Amino acid sequence: AELASAPAPLSGRKIIVTSGPTHEPIDPVRYIANRSSGKQGHAIAEALAGLGAEVLLVSGPVNVPDPAGVRTIHVETARAMMQAVEAALPADAAVFVAAVADWRSDAAAGEKIKKVAGEGPPVLRMVENPDILATIGHHARRPYLVVGFAAETQDLVANAKAKLKRKGADFIVANDVSAEGGAMGGDRNRVRIVSKSGVDDWPEMSKQEVARRLAAVIAGRLATVEV
Ligand code: CTP
Ligand code: CA
Repeated sequence: AELASAPAPLSGRKIIVTSGPTHEPIDPVRYIANRSSGKQGHAIAEALAGLGAEVLLVSGPVNVPDPAGVRTIHVETARAMMQAVEAALPADAAVFVAAVADWRSDAAAGEKIKKVAGEGPPVLRMVENPDILATIGHHARRPYLVVGFAAETQDLVANAKAKLKRKGADFIVANDVSAEGGAMGGDRNRVRIVSKSGVDDWPEMSKQEVARRLAAVIAGRLATVEV
């Protein structure tokens, strides 16, 4: 006789994941963005769903397909991402993988900005976007588990530890985006898991493998919490 299969470790759990870049409009045809592909965040959403979680993926503009078995909401701006995440609370866990634009143009023009002879280039004034991870990390309805990412080009662990504290995260997945063939846009990733209890150095692996291992860590942490 066949053995009864064990229940999926994350069944009954609701998890929010953000992924991809955000696009911040300058005018109707131009925007500010970054090199995030969405590969890592989408892989994490898929891996969590694979363990039985009900996953809501809030994705910025990406060229990767919506993951199977995941409800995906598409947004453009940091503010829209913030709104979609807050509207999705409560949740058991949230994983903030998106490379949210830190700043936006303070007054996106309603019409295409034109070159005017003799006037020179426009000067953009930037204002800060909401910090989604920090908002949710300190939220009255904070999920039990809050995970952030940190993209750094220097002082990786020190910066990740500072973000852990400042943003109220349980752990930060830190990656060095200056590395050759580095994480941003690529298919592989070498991360360190930074938490209050220390730093766990993972070897370089595919983004799918990072996703599976991270999903397993999250399942382990949630296993001790009542549904
Ligand atoms: N993050 C966020 N909202 C923002 C900026 C960042 O939710 N407006 C999240 C990212 O999804 C990531 C974490 O915060 O999980 C760290 O992002 P990062 O860009 O590394 O940190 P910042 O605080 O923006 O600092 P800096 O870019 O100056 O390193
Ligand atoms: Ca940033």
